[in-house]
Amino acid sequence: MKPETHIFDNATLAAHAVASLIQELAIAKQQQNQMLNIAVSGGSTPKQLFILLAEDDYRTQIPWEAVRFFWVDERCVEPAHPESNFGMTYDALLQYAFVPAQNIFRMKGEDIPANEAVRYSNLLWKELPARNGFPVFDLILLGIGDDGHTASIFPDNMELLEAEKSVDVATHPASGQKRITLTGKTINNANRVIFLVTGSNKSGIISKIINGASQADKYPAAYIRNFTGKAAFFMDTAAASEL
Ligand code: 6PG
Repeated sequence: MKPETHIFDNATLAAHAVASLIQELAIAKQQQNQMLNIAVSGGSTPKQLFILLAEDDYRTQIPWEAVRFFWVDERCVEPAHPESNFGMTYDALLQYAFVPAQNIFRMKGEDIPANEAVRYSNLLWKELPARNGFPVFDLILLGIGDDGHTASIFPDNMELLEAEKSVDVATHPASGQKRITLTGKTINNANRVIFLVTGSNKSGIISKIINGASQADKYPAAYIRNFTGKAAFFMDTAAASEL
């Protein structure tokens, strides 16, 4: 079965669709006196989304006090380092939006990776509801790398997809940089999983992942797409051009 796909004329419109969805979900949670627990990714595509969310309309209309930010993955660097996923989110969005400090749960990239994976996993157990032995996010926002990675689960770390831990340490295959990442079972346990993918450099990998269920053993993103059945892809026409 093909996953749910949404294709937009350009990257800005794709980001608007995800921003509107976040707005809708946050308002619904606020009306029920609940919190929207989101885990966000790093990279250039989420950055565009965060910049949009910091613009007047979303910034003033989203009930940020009902949104709690967690991270899908973090590069093991200081938060002020240019590669920090938290730092990028802070610079693009959090410094402008009225998200209370107690709603921000960053992964500490500056700490010893193995210790931080355990600390973050314990934090998820404390802060989130549980189901199937894993914490439950309301929404997980993912990207896809040219090599088919998602979160910081790379094609040579496929074991992280089925790990029994909810958070673990990964290593970037090219740079050797350590990463902290949610594992596959945590991602698959979320209520909603959204891949936001834009740009023509992603068209080849997107077509393999959306058209080829059998690619699940090669590409982490294909594994996630297969497992949940509920993962939705928000793309621009450039990323979708080979579908
Ligand atoms: C990261 C990620 C990673 C990212 C993809 C896509 O920290 O790098 O969370 O999984 O989402 O690599 O990144 P781009 O949007 O930059 O292509």
